Amino acid sequence: ANIRHYKFNVLMKNMTKLCSTKPIVTINGKFPGPTLYAREDDNVIVNLTNNVSYNVTIHWHGVKQLRTGWSDGPAYITQCPVQPGGTFIYNFTLTGQRGTLLWHAHISWLRATVHGAIVILPKRGVPYPFPRPHTQKIIVFGEWWKSDVENVIKQSTQSGLPPNLSDAHTINGLTGPLAGCNNSHGYTLHVETGKNYLLRIINAAVNDELFFKIAQHKLTVVEADASYTKPFTTETLFLGPGQTANAILTANHPKGNFLMTISPFMDTVVPVDNATATAFLRYKNITTKSLIMSKTPPINATSIAQNFSDALRSLNSRDYPTNVPLKIDHSLFFAIGVGVNPCSTCINGTKTIADINNVTFVMPTTALLQAHYFNKSQGVFTDDFPGRPLTPFDYTGGNSSTPLSNLQTKNGTQVYRLEFNATVQIIIQGTSVIAPESHPTHLHGSNFFVVGKGLGNFDPLMDPKKFNLVDPVERNTVSVPTAGWTAIRFIADNPGVWFFHCHLEVHTSWGLKMAFLVEDGKGSNEKLPPPPSDLPKC
Ligand code: C2O
Repeated sequence: ANIRHYKFNVLMKNMTKLCSTKPIVTINGKFPGPTLYAREDDNVIVNLTNNVSYNVTIHWHGVKQLRTGWSDGPAYITQCPVQPGGTFIYNFTLTGQRGTLLWHAHISWLRATVHGAIVILPKRGVPYPFPRPHTQKIIVFGEWWKSDVENVIKQSTQSGLPPNLSDAHTINGLTGPLAGCNNSHGYTLHVETGKNYLLRIINAAVNDELFFKIAQHKLTVVEADASYTKPFTTETLFLGPGQTANAILTANHPKGNFLMTISPFMDTVVPVDNATATAFLRYKNITTKSLIMSKTPPINATSIAQNFSDALRSLNSRDYPTNVPLKIDHSLFFAIGVGVNPCSTCINGTKTIADINNVTFVMPTTALLQAHYFNKSQGVFTDDFPGRPLTPFDYTGGNSSTPLSNLQTKNGTQVYRLEFNATVQIIIQGTSVIAPESHPTHLHGSNFFVVGKGLGNFDPLMDPKKFNLVDPVERNTVSVPTAGWTAIRFIADNPGVWFFHCHLEVHTSWGLKMAFLVEDGKGSNEKLPPPPSDLPKC
């Protein structure tokens, strides 16, 4: 294994999109930011220097951070932020991981502009479990606001009203020419007839689950969230924020210029930025200027989204076995959703909030991991996060059948404690309290297996009989369907404090988040080492 050194200089940079210019926070002046390249088992060292006036942290989304919890990055969960002028060295090893992931800022909404790809190649000499591609291309989806993104969330927090929607989506930082500004260029992917391309596709958008399509081309998905899958071929890819996929594109046309699109998914009445971003797949032999188009999926294409997620199965081969925990130590039920709390300073006297099991998580002012490690949890957090909802209710009936008490939640900074190596199952049930909505939920520190999924209320008697315990997909982020549920399993084999939250940043901001505290094991390599000496202070 090698050591890979990177320098991340956080700096402001003026960017022009949609015919307007604004300064944005970037890494090394780039949007999207620099790609990290490494191989499985490599050690990655990123030297971060903060040259902006915001507090910053970086999260390596999907990197397991085995016993390197100090480098995980979510602000006030594993570390205090790096203050203006400050530095911090992120140091972690990609133990047993290969594939495509992303890194992003993990404080406030900075990840709107501070994100990039992580490419982890297999160990030298180890082939992919699929035909070797001619070459690889990275495709990053993003979301763009004309105004200052930090102001968007700040205004929303003060007013109690939902934040402004974004103004465009981007593919590799570009909106494409359909975005309503005639100077907008689109990303171009150049291909040659007969060759295979491995697309490393990342949804780094802030609040939108997105469909991806290339006109008249199919994609063969071979990996999701940096875990190999059984190959399956599809016309449309579907990724929630934080999710990644590797797909093989075969350039099987003799010539031409084909449209590539990303467009949002929203199957309820919740407002969403419905702008389509466009890019181009361009063959070397191009004889005509004409562009070959295809229809984007309708915004409420629930079946396309569901079919894509349902088709994902882990590879489960001899070299890459699927080890789903069969015996469960902690069987949890998380009811997640959006609600309303009273707010005397807000415009309507109320504010939108979100919760897990009636708890709206409140960010502490010091990092949970430090408080835990130094036995100073008092006044910072409690370990009584409820494993089930405080008041059971019907999750499917909409507002009318929902007792009003469920609209209101308790504020708290509570964690759920797990002993080292405990096995955990969580039924994540979407509630319908204000608006049923799909939630891409993300766990830090471990991957999980998606053993089941369904619509309506989870049925504890019948549904577990249908769980897939053979080849469930292994992921770090999974969509909980609108007014439905998803069942996941994982092993708590990584001591530390691990964030669990909806990866729609607006829902995280509203409180749809909590943390697991995984205790040390007895063995010497089962403990969280002491913090690095440069760990920032709050
Ligand atoms: Cu990609 Cu906690 O985030």
